[in-house]
Order: sequence, then structure tokens, then C-alpha cells
Amino acid sequence: MAKIGIAGASGYTGLELLRLLINHPKSEIVFLTSETYQGQAVSKVFPSLSGFTDIKFSSIDSVSSEHCDIVFLALPHTVSMHKVSLFLTENTRVIDLSADFRLKDPAVFKDWYSTRHQQPSLLKEAVYGLPEIHREAIKSARLIANPGCYPTSITLALAPLITKDWVDLSSIVADSKSGISGAGRKAALATQFSEVNEGVSAYNIAVHRHTPEIEQELSTLSKTDIQISFSPHLIPMTRGMLSTVYINLKQDMSAEDLLEYFNNFYTNEPFIRILPLGEYANTHFTVSSNFCDIGVQVDIRNRRAIITSAIDNLIKGASGQAIQNMNLMLGISEKSGLSFPGIFP
Ligand SMILES: NC(=O)c1ccc[n+]([C@@H]2O[C@H](COP(=O)([O-])OP(=O)(O)OC[C@H]3O[C@@H](n4cnc5c(N)ncnc54)[C@H](OP(=O)(O)O)[C@@H]3O)[C@@H](O)[C@H]2O)c1
Repeated sequence: MAKIGIAGASGYTGLELLRLLINHPKSEIVFLTSETYQGQAVSKVFPSLSGFTDIKFSSIDSVSSEHCDIVFLALPHTVSMHKVSLFLTENTRVIDLSADFRLKDPAVFKDWYSTRHQQPSLLKEAVYGLPEIHREAIKSARLIANPGCYPTSITLALAPLITKDWVDLSSIVADSKSGISGAGRKAALATQFSEVNEGVSAYNIAVHRHTPEIEQELSTLSKTDIQISFSPHLIPMTRGMLSTVYINLKQDMSAEDLLEYFNNFYTNEPFIRILPLGEYANTHFTVSSNFCDIGVQVDIRNRRAIITSAIDNLIKGASGQAIQNMNLMLGISEKSGLSFPGIFP
């Protein structure tokens, strides 16, 4: 059994980690942290867990990773980098769900997060935890930078194309819609019911903090500097994320050929489902699962490939992907604790 700690277990991703790990065959929870609920039983605070665990929340400064194999940090960005050294030791590996270890260059981090990085030496060491792309490096990593939800959906949509000389890498446009849980559990005006219900709104166009993360990953894959246009939207649903990604083709190509290419690229990937021609990604069918569904099309009139990808932002976009990384690090089946379909309706 792997001994697990979760820092930030009262938030949406921390709680989702706990829910999934309770049914995981090889994990045993050692500690959960919350400053707000320290001393209270998690099943009292979240009655959905009643009958499954009696563990109590502790303050983050009162727990130790001494008896843990893996600690998940489900903390806000710029908090994780202050806390990582409490947990990352010779015997304990860390999977950070925040953005703090995703960007390799501390100067880029400062530009986008408006603060100096506190652990710049760990940025080099951290492995970007997208298993479909970095599976081998993840297995032996000590520190995982678990990808953001938008970057997961967009990078998986583009990865098969980005190394090909028949696409125009300067033409990428990503349009994404996220459920409100993407913003976390803390109260904020922008995520109040009456602010989001019955409406769809774009926000942070061209300045969203996931932009450098997506560009870094695509640039590394293609070995060239890539910039994209990224437009995120909030949509009145609790979970789920849909990205529609556009990239120009330099030559004529049929949708059948593009589909075959995607099928070959992702063959044997346990959590990627490539949809048949004429079907497009739909959040209804990935919510509450670790799957990323991808649909492809070619707009022949404009020589443009259009890729749709749907995930659950809290699972493949966060906690499920973190457990996929944990499974790889432990050398057990990548699907352990994650082999379940989504919930529909
Ligand atoms: N939500 C998503 O869909 C999603 C997807 C991918 C990645 N992420 C990333 O995952 C991380 C967690 O996101 P979330 O949505 O779970 O956030 P959240 O719901 O706001 O939860 C944050 C957690 O961190 C704890 N916390 C906050 N400030 C702290 C501090 N200074 N010291 C110790 N603990 C502190 C909170 O505990 P108390 O308030 O109980 O004390 C809570 O348990 C974020 O970095 C986020 O960007 C989120």
C-alpha cells in the first residue's frame, strides 16, 4: 500500500483526490489538510464521505511527510511553492496540482504570476505530468507538475499535429469553455450563481495564465517557438471542459486521413478516445471520468483542421490525471482506481 497525504483536501481538487483514492486498490490516506476545517472529521464537513473515512483534517504546518510515499499538493498557485519543501524528501515524492512547477523559466513565472519563484532550482527537476507525452520521465520523477485543465484539453488536441510540417504552427487558435468548479471552492463574485447562471462569458482573452504553459509544452514538442491565441469562457455547468482548437493546413487533407492519423498517434492510450468521423467531443460523456474524448474535422474550403476535446476539469484536468501520474510513479497499472465510465445523464 502506498501511503498518501493530501494538502488542501477541503478544496475541489483535493476532495476529488480523496473520493478517488478511497476506492484505489493500492493507496492508504495518512493525512488531509485544511486550515478552515482543522480538527474536524472530513465526513462531517462533506457528508458524501460518511461511512467511507473518519479521518480528520489537520493544519498543513502540523503534518509531516515522514510516513508518506506520495504527497499531493492541491493548494492555490503561489502557495504550493512555499509548502513543497515541507513534504519533498528523500523518501517522499510530490505531485503538485497548482501551476507553481509547470513553467521552466522563473522569469516567465514572474511575468504571469506577478511574484518571484521561491524554489527556482526545483523548476528544472519537476516533470510535466501529462502521461500521454511524458510517461517515461514521470515514472522516476520526484516532483510532478500536474498540468492545468485548459492545457490538458488543448495540448492533447494538438499533440498529434504539432510535429508535422503540413500544419501552420503560427495559426493556432484555442477556444475553451469551462465549468465553474474550474475556479475552485473559495467564494468570489465572478463565480456566484446569479453571475454565471443562464449566461456564457469570455474572460482573460489573450492574457489567461495558462497561455505560457500551453505554449511551453507545444514549443517543447515541436522544437520551435509557438504562440497561440487562447480564449477561455465560463459556462454555467459545475464540471466539464470543452476546447475547440483550429490550426491551418499547408496542404489539402481529408478528414478521413486526419482521423486515421489521430487514431494511430493515440493507439493504446487508456484514457484517450478518438471519436468516429462526424462526432464531436461532448462534456456529457466525459464528466466524472478520466477520459479525454477527441473529435476531428477538416474544413476543406479553408484548409483548416478543427479538433474538439472534452474532459472533466476536476478529473483528467486535475485529480484523475494526478492519480494516473501516481500510478506510473508507483509502477502499478496506469488505470488503477481510474477505470470507470463517466456519469450520464
Ligand atoms: N478546480 C480545477 O478544475 C483545477 C484544475 C486543475 C488544476 N487546479 C489547481 O489545483 C489547485 C487547487 O485547486 P482547487 O480548485 O481545488 O482550489 P480550492 O477549491 O480553492 O481549494 C484550495 C485548497 O487549498 C487550501 N488552502 C488555501 N490557501 C492555503 C494556505 N495558504 N495554506 C494551506 N492551505 C491552503 C484550502 O484549504 P482551507 O481553505 O480549507 O483552509 C483548500 O483545501 C489550484 O492551484 C488550481 O489552480 C484546479
